[in-house]
Amino acid sequence: MQSGLSLAAKICSLMRNLRCLGGRGVRPSTNLAGFTMATLSMSPKGLTAGVRKKLQRAARQVMKNAHAPYSHFRVGAAILLANGKIFSGCNVENASYGMTNCAERTAIFSAVAELGPRIEIRAVAVTNDHGVACSPCGACRQVIYEFGPDATIFFQGANGPKEAHIKELLPEGFRLE
Ligand code: THU
Repeated sequence: MQSGLSLAAKICSLMRNLRCLGGRGVRPSTNLAGFTMATLSMSPKGLTAGVRKKLQRAARQVMKNAHAPYSHFRVGAAILLANGKIFSGCNVENASYGMTNCAERTAIFSAVAELGPRIEIRAVAVTNDHGVACSPCGACRQVIYEFGPDATIFFQGANGPKEAHIKELLPEGFRLE
């Protein structure tokens, strides 16, 4: 039988560990695209301005690789995973328009291809070369939700930069349970 006192001590210790895990201390790492991650300081609740800028920079950089001869609208996206790694992707269009892959999904599929399906997306940044409003399309919202049901999305809104939770962008996302 567990005494009340030692149970309370265990709960305190567990909470300390959880704060530690969810809080700070992401180790430096490099992904395939060669982005080196410095140690990131993340607030327990959200993401710092530094993290956001780093993601936006990665998104702008990869945007240059877009294959967009049909829309002439280049998009770049970068995702931050719970393990601290950043992956990025651009839109890849096709002569058969419907086969086009958005930047967000390119980034997510690259992460899964590299690390497997147990990735957890913390944040997504999206940018485009027209400087216009551009939030993830419906298909990308569902894919973000699959791997990041608690993700924050940074994008250009109608009145400037915006930040939204994936569940604001996709209420009642689909999940097979
Ligand atoms: N596109 C993206 O890559 N991400 C978005 O969030 C919105 C749209 C791409 C798809 C297509 O190549 C081009 O932008 C025009 O729709």
